[in-house]
Amino acid sequence: AVNDSEVTPFSVPSYACQRRSTLKNHNAVLTDSLSLLAENAELSDEDGRGVAFRRAAAVLKALPSAVTKMSQLKGLPCLGEHSLRVIKDILENGASSEVESTKESERFKALKVLTGIFGVGSKTADRWIREGIHNLQQLRDSGQTLNRAQQAGLEHYDDIKQPVSLAEAEAIRGIVGRAVASVSPEAQIVLTGGFRRGKLTGHDVDFLITHPEEGSEVGLMPKLVSWLESQGLLLYQKTTRNSYLEGSEGPGRPPSNIDRFERCLSIFKLSAGQTGRGVQSEETAASPSAAERRWRAVRVDLVVSPISQFAFALLGWTGSKLFERELRRWAGHEKGMSLSSHALYDNKQGRYIRASSEEEIFAHLGLEFIPPTERNA
Ligand code: CTP
Ligand code: MN
Ligand code: MN
Ligand code: MN
Repeated sequence: AVNDSEVTPFSVPSYACQRRSTLKNHNAVLTDSLSLLAENAELSDEDGRGVAFRRAAAVLKALPSAVTKMSQLKGLPCLGEHSLRVIKDILENGASSEVESTKESERFKALKVLTGIFGVGSKTADRWIREGIHNLQQLRDSGQTLNRAQQAGLEHYDDIKQPVSLAEAEAIRGIVGRAVASVSPEAQIVLTGGFRRGKLTGHDVDFLITHPEEGSEVGLMPKLVSWLESQGLLLYQKTTRNSYLEGSEGPGRPPSNIDRFERCLSIFKLSAGQTGRGVQSEETAASPSAAERRWRAVRVDLVVSPISQFAFALLGWTGSKLFERELRRWAGHEKGMSLSSHALYDNKQGRYIRASSEEEIFAHLGLEFIPPTERNA
């Protein structure tokens, strides 16, 4: 047996954007537990606690082997008292009592189900729970007024909660590619989000669209959406126009973290024939089987960026969410810069820093380039 003094402690840099986080995870039991507590905190509007658990989980994801002893964690960043207690519980007892009781709690289960409806956030879910609504049937029976997004979300709940496969993402890439080509032949489209990071499944499919000639991207989104609608490909869509130059931002002002690109949150109607391997939705009492319907609903996000901001948009929409948050924290705390999905701003010099590739942005931030597949923090 190896005694404690022979256990080599791991060493990990403190910002997730300084680390290479692949999809390989040697500590899945620990990180699943911490992620569940993060999710519970986020659903309870306790974002600070949520981030703390997310950072702790990300540190464990970055380790080269499984943690077996608490002594191995000595000196690691981002592991607070609470996270260490959870880890210790799991290493010593096989499970964390806090995680188990959270998982089984009626409130957590209800929050998960209700926020699983597209268009429903934690505040709405919390209000419904206080009114005694804990599941979809109670919601349907309650006579609550639902907005258009929530109606679509409830209608397509079973499809949307079903993970999107890479084959389905590629099929949608083909469809959106043809749509873009027909409304703006020069425009370019990139798959972003989790699929760009090499994930094999996702909760949606994310695309970034741009045009090589600055300004020619204006008006592209409405044309694209009309084309898709005319083909009967959209079950729901809501387009938000670009507001980057309208608010407090724009040239001469430091950017905020919120991005203001023209975007379209949608639900696609994906036909079985389009993926070549049939739809993957499960048969349920509430909806006809995939075989009867021959299509499934898939969440798709479309974002349009001017070419001058493309590198920032690409970096910002590739994720993971924690990796993005850590990039912005690094920029602000270590470099005196503000990073958004539109721009990089040097606070001391009072000027924007241009970049035309992700590599340039990392270089401006004084960071080693981390490729998309290693941003799975
Ligand atoms: N994003 C954003 N603003 C939003 C929503 C998302 O900037 N209002 C960014 C996120 O920071 C992330 C990317 O868009 O970098 C993709 O977000 P999302 O689809 O939610 O997550 P994925 O990483 O793609 O995970 P999944 O596979 O579950 O879709
Ligand atoms: Mn490894
Ligand atoms: Mn996504
Ligand atoms: Mn998305």
